[in-house]
Amino acid sequence: MIIAIDGPAGSGKSTIAKLIAEDLGLVYLDTGAMYRLVTLKALNDGILGNLDKIIKMLDNLNIDIKENGFYLDEIDVSEEIRKPIVSENVSDIAAIREVREKMVDLQRKFSESKNVILDGRDIGTVVFPNADLKIFLVADARERAKRRYRELIQKGENVEIEEIYENILKRDKIDSTRKESPLKKAKDAVEVDTTSKSIEEVKNEILRMVNSNI
Ligand code: DC
Repeated sequence: MIIAIDGPAGSGKSTIAKLIAEDLGLVYLDTGAMYRLVTLKALNDGILGNLDKIIKMLDNLNIDIKENGFYLDEIDVSEEIRKPIVSENVSDIAAIREVREKMVDLQRKFSESKNVILDGRDIGTVVFPNADLKIFLVADARERAKRRYRELIQKGENVEIEEIYENILKRDKIDSTRKESPLKKAKDAVEVDTTSKSIEEVKNEILRMVNSNI
């Protein structure tokens, strides 16, 4: 079984996908984290903005997704990939065709002969157009900024809500207007607006869809 959850930053994709995975015993893949790993590598190598070097770097890219975290060059960087510096640059990296081709390939390989739930921007449109269930999660941008703000404050980050809001708007724009696999709802995806719904409500709504789909 393949469940695809797409939607903009902060719409609740990863929270919901994790809960559904637990409930149904599926393997969860956070594809946004993969683009974040590539972004962190480019930052560490000091090659942001250098398209040729970024494309070359992909040949020796050493990323790993384990149950306990996300690894870059054998080091657990699960915390680092959520930092604002990565969030600020990830949309530009995710817009590069060669980066996307490599990530999509890895996502398909990872999902082979598994029951999976993946979240991202292009899962239902590009990675798995034949997914068993496609959900498109949306939420008001102010509400999404509030959620990200709370998350980062809890982690001890020193952030301003207005900056997060601006970053969310900027990412929405880059992600949905880029040439390669832009963020858009697949024709057969079900849209769920999470703005004024609790996590529990959204989870149950999706579980009902899964059950009526089987
Ligand atoms: O979900 P997230 O905020 O961790 O995603 C980080 C960035 O990666 C986001 O700006 C868009 C990009 N992304 C993508 O282009 N395709 C995906 N399948 C997942 C994420």
